[in-house]
Amino acid sequence: MENNVPNPNPELLTAKLLEADETIADEEFHHLNNPADGIKPIVKKYLGVPNHAKQVGNKIYFTDGDASVEVIVVTKEIIRVRLSPHSVFLEDFSYAVPQLPNKPVEFTLLETDLEFRVSTEAVNCHIRKADFFISFSDKDEHVTSTDAVPMHWEENTQFGGYYVFCTKTCYDKESFFGLGDKATELNLRGKRLKNWNTDAYSYSFNQDPLYRSIPFYISVNENIAHGIFFDNTFKAYFDFGAEDRTKTSFFADGGELQYYYIHGPHMMDVVKNYHLLTGTHPMPPLWALGYHQCRWSYYPENKVKVIANGFRQNRIPCDSIYLDIDYMDGYRCFTWSPKYFPNPKKMIAELASAGFKTVVIIDPGIRVDDNYWVFKEGKEKKYFCRRSDDYFMEGHVWPGRCQFPDFTNPEVRAWWGDLFDDLVETGVAGVWNDMNEPAVFGSGTFPDDVRHQYDGYRGSHRKAHNVYGMQMVRATYEGLRKQMKNKRPFTITRAGYSGVQRYSSVWTGDNVASWEHLKIGNIQLQRLSTSGISFCGTDIGGFSGEPDGELFTRWIQMGTFSPFMRAHSAGDTKEREPWSFGEPFTSINRKFIELRYRLIPYLYSAFWEHHRYGFPILRPVVMHEQGEVSNHFRQDEFTYGDKILICPVLDAGLQSRRVYLPKGKWYNWWTLEMVEGGKEHVVATPLDIMPIFVKAGSVIPEYPVMQYTGEREIEEVKLNIYYSDYEVNSFLFEDYGETFAYEQDIYLEKKFVVNGDAQRLTIKQTMEGLYTPRYEGYHFKVNGLPFAPTKILADGKEITEIAVNADKTYEFKFPKNFKHIEIIK
Ligand code: GLC
Repeated sequence: MENNVPNPNPELLTAKLLEADETIADEEFHHLNNPADGIKPIVKKYLGVPNHAKQVGNKIYFTDGDASVEVIVVTKEIIRVRLSPHSVFLEDFSYAVPQLPNKPVEFTLLETDLEFRVSTEAVNCHIRKADFFISFSDKDEHVTSTDAVPMHWEENTQFGGYYVFCTKTCYDKESFFGLGDKATELNLRGKRLKNWNTDAYSYSFNQDPLYRSIPFYISVNENIAHGIFFDNTFKAYFDFGAEDRTKTSFFADGGELQYYYIHGPHMMDVVKNYHLLTGTHPMPPLWALGYHQCRWSYYPENKVKVIANGFRQNRIPCDSIYLDIDYMDGYRCFTWSPKYFPNPKKMIAELASAGFKTVVIIDPGIRVDDNYWVFKEGKEKKYFCRRSDDYFMEGHVWPGRCQFPDFTNPEVRAWWGDLFDDLVETGVAGVWNDMNEPAVFGSGTFPDDVRHQYDGYRGSHRKAHNVYGMQMVRATYEGLRKQMKNKRPFTITRAGYSGVQRYSSVWTGDNVASWEHLKIGNIQLQRLSTSGISFCGTDIGGFSGEPDGELFTRWIQMGTFSPFMRAHSAGDTKEREPWSFGEPFTSINRKFIELRYRLIPYLYSAFWEHHRYGFPILRPVVMHEQGEVSNHFRQDEFTYGDKILICPVLDAGLQSRRVYLPKGKWYNWWTLEMVEGGKEHVVATPLDIMPIFVKAGSVIPEYPVMQYTGEREIEEVKLNIYYSDYEVNSFLFEDYGETFAYEQDIYLEKKFVVNGDAQRLTIKQTMEGLYTPRYEGYHFKVNGLPFAPTKILADGKEITEIAVNADKTYEFKFPKNFKHIEIIK
């Protein structure tokens, strides 16, 4: 039974019409919206009254006699809700969630006079009998999310299927985070945003949509967090109290109304559980955590060598150089320009011997050219996308007239993956996938009617658009993984959908060399990291426009703490290497890039915590203290892993800035001064300083500075210990850094526990795993000791060689397998 209740949220209806044609003029809009003019108004259908509940395994079906809702108990914290207007559910398939977790979960199904209730140990899902409102509460019956209107839909007479809508109550103090790379404030409260992958060259603040679609958000209200993952690949919208401050809505132009409710109560729990559904990034090759240098484009070959030499001569570490589109022959993918790169294999080998990995760009547009083998093969095998009436999907991109592989076809992905064999054989170590929104000059992207195979679940471009780029980089990653045998590939993509992190890192696209963009980038990276995409970075310096030395240096400083660190610039800009701005910039840039390299074992360990346990690498302050509503609006400072807090300098000429530190004790990285958290501090920010704080009790591992990862054998690892009078755990992850042996448990996960009082400081180490690092010992540096030690005992033995520094830090060495160190007053 369909229930045509009056629209309780008329603004939404209005917005829907507006969305249908964004260029619509005002009068035209009134005309359209006035049925008296003979135009049929949009009719929304609402769920009626649930009269029945049926349980099949972990699925429970509720129906109003016509429409049905399926509730799946996925884990004790995750419940999936799905709507079918006529009780016929689509076959379950998702690019984001390859497989639902399949551990059995205990739950109960209860019926009362007022409701049906599905309950796990952590969460209750209530289906109200009066009106089919669906709500969620925690085990204390605290309601965290409730429908404000029953789920509803509207028939799509043109394409079939439905426009689908879900509207929930937006609470007074509720805040919203997530949604990927949106270029707006971190807290999304009061915003309406759209997901439709878009090539957004030189985007501006608040421009929407951008390159990626991540339909996942986190709500925080009264110190309880929950997530909603609306796994719908169609053009989708999120409204966080923008139209009606009491309502939050998400809706899409097609597909199913299907969402996962992910219970917290902490934001970190929500993010971890989102990762449980959509996966994490595999361990990257260690070199990919170094500094990357890119430009559109370094060519010819000699220019590439000049740049590489520039790094070594200037003693600025760098692990990779990128080749943008000009390395190709007429922008044909998988070819080399015979003029500019006559012997790529030799060049790549020379670069490799100087410690540089070569990363090349690959775009999806394949030039229509019968003399070009990739085009010929794709054409013969019918791998290119077609329009509804079977014409080829053609559009202009860099190579001119192009056709585009249908990456949603597994056979096409396998073919594409194999195309990389030559590049791998030539020595390429990483692949950069660009223009994969997909971008087409003029029209922006493909028309809606383009057909896609969609892994057998066929659909038009309306359904496949947002996953096209993700499937391209998936094909790339899987192909590289196959070709590189047991070596870890490095991939980077511009477009993506939820789950893209399983295949690739991302960058935030064509930003601008402006202070505003430095701010936007800072927010985008924090947001990406809380939205499943931890391996992310911005184009350091800004892609278009010209930064001055100060802006570039401030960007390098922030980039030192971006999980992915790459400078990149457009073709029409001036030289943009870390030494291009002269002194004092070169030295400061060097100091920070060196710091990046010193902290590689720390970043690598944070990466492991992401990969294995689903923690984000960057964490906004709100993730540390979600109970403080003022923190819902802090977006400058963030932590890198969980031990180091960064506050980038985001304005020109700033000699000092305010930095908020979450509760607890922190050390200023530069001065070693200990400061109390839970408040703001004014910190000096001369050009060579960006505020960096370390949590008391941390053990921060450090490598010696090298010009590139693996330049020399590591002889010892430095452990920077920060005194604390409460217990703190730290981790160090180690393995070969380039193979998949970690999947067979060949790695070492070390845990350090630091604790102190007025008389002593103890450091304990435990280890798990099968890997043995080659180095023999640790070099300890103890910071912040409130007393002068008289004795240091390591596994019962007294250490006699202790360096006492003027800043009251103490240094000593001991073999790496220690269990217990005691520093005694
Ligand atoms: C796009 C990319 C940019 C690249 C350029 C040329 O604009 O976003 O990074 O340099 O294309 O390939």
